[in-house]
Amino acid sequence: MTSSDPGATEWDVMYAARSAIWSGEPNAQLVAEAEHLTPGSALDIGCGEGADAVWLARRGWQVTAVDISHVALERARMHAGSAGHEITFVQADLVASPPAPGSYDLVSAQFFQLEDPPRSEAMLGFGAAVSPGGHLLVVGHCPSGHVGGGHPERLHTVDQITALFSPPDWQIITAEDRERTAMHHGELTDLTDGVVFLRRIQ
Ligand SMILES: C[S@@+](CC[C@H](N)C(=O)[O-])C[C@H]1O[C@@H](n2cnc3c(N)ncnc32)[C@H](O)[C@@H]1O
Repeated sequence: MTSSDPGATEWDVMYAARSAIWSGEPNAQLVAEAEHLTPGSALDIGCGEGADAVWLARRGWQVTAVDISHVALERARMHAGSAGHEITFVQADLVASPPAPGSYDLVSAQFFQLEDPPRSEAMLGFGAAVSPGGHLLVVGHCPSGHVGGGHPERLHTVDQITALFSPPDWQIITAEDRERTAMHHGELTDLTDGVVFLRRIQ
């Protein structure tokens, strides 16, 4: 993982448009899947404003949190600092520079939205970063249930992710769409999350 930032501008512009984009709360599916795990090393892929990284650090994880956006990382650093947690923040393009293989007990990609290609190759790189016995959590907006505009071509299904990670190397723990109601762009909205939670066997 080296620091480079082609494509950073789009995300920096989005973050700079408002003083806070996300809720400041950890993502619901991260909490649901990771709260029973024994803390170890964790990689937060596309950490945004840092709420997931802070939640993990509070629970005892050694967290590396990566984002392409300087603006998001500045906020995430402030969030972690005011919460009193030590988190390693890295500015990097995780598509151009995949994380180091076999390095983390948990790799979490929450709403890391990317068209394919290069989505599949990037996801394989995120999986490769999990150490044997560790977990990979990939959560995205379900394309069929997605509300709002944006970039539908960047959304993935659960099946598109599970197709990349199969036995005997991976155990599928969860692969399903989950509905929840949450604030989305300032309005209480019914959302569907595609949740893929996997354990690396070897
Ligand atoms: C939809 S946001 C989700 C942020 C956070 N995970 C959350 O759930 O609140 C996607 C994040 O991925 C980051 N990102 C997009 N492309 C990236 C890339 N190639 N490398 C690293 N981060 C990237 C963006 O800057 C943004 O913060």
